[in-house]
Amino acid sequence: MTTNRSIITQALIDKYGFKTYLEIGVESGKNFFPIKAGRKIAVDPFLKFGALKQFFKAIQYPANFNASYFRMESDRFFAEKADKTLQNTLLDICLVDGMHEYAYALRDVENCLDRLAGNGVIIMHDCNPQTKEAGYTWAEWDANKCQGFWNGDVWKSVIHLRSLRKDINVFVLDADHGLGIVTRGTPENPLSFTPAQIEALTYEEFAANRQEWLNLKPATYFSEYFK
Ligand SMILES: C[S@@+](CC[C@H](N)C(=O)[O-])C[C@H]1O[C@@H](n2cnc3c(N)ncnc32)[C@H](O)[C@@H]1O
Repeated sequence: MTTNRSIITQALIDKYGFKTYLEIGVESGKNFFPIKAGRKIAVDPFLKFGALKQFFKAIQYPANFNASYFRMESDRFFAEKADKTLQNTLLDICLVDGMHEYAYALRDVENCLDRLAGNGVIIMHDCNPQTKEAGYTWAEWDANKCQGFWNGDVWKSVIHLRSLRKDINVFVLDADHGLGIVTRGTPENPLSFTPAQIEALTYEEFAANRQEWLNLKPATYFSEYFK
């Protein structure tokens, strides 16, 4: 079976007994609702469902009786709600799948890292765009009236984390539009870009260097890394 964000999230929860799951960018809840975890937190300013669907999804998947929903941007969640919601609890596993732009995805990962358990894992969706259009910023995508699947320039946040954070290891699984995997530990083959250099990188440069810059791994590397 081809792997995807849902499969690896649940596999990690089951393997490590992870309790607290945060999903940033939830949309219709296609990924969020079926995830089985002790404590689930959903953050999205444009959640595409209301209390009724939340109730029926809890009947269907009882883990959702312990879910909390925050209809707001992730920055506001971390600034205003995270302390009270989490109290002294750390996050075990996070899916960063909100606003797909460099600065936003980077802030989401860094905010998650501030509250991540020692053995916690952050999964970043959409790290590996296959076309120039899919890798546009939102303004470029919108201005060019593009249609289809938009990954954004989340790839730049992977390069940033691999260049500037010496306390985490980051690689990207070649599956489901590129699944970035962030864990605490020694970085493998770190990069040395400055934020200004990363900002100026083009899609063409990325496409020529994606293997090295993303630390791209085959999907099978997931079970090798988390064995
Ligand atoms: C690709 S969808 C998420 C899909 C979902 N994770 C899944 O796997 O089914 C991206 C979502 O990010 C949300 N979003 C956009 N900006 C955001 C922000 N600043 N904070 C949190 N979520 C945001 C959008 O409203 C949208 O619903």
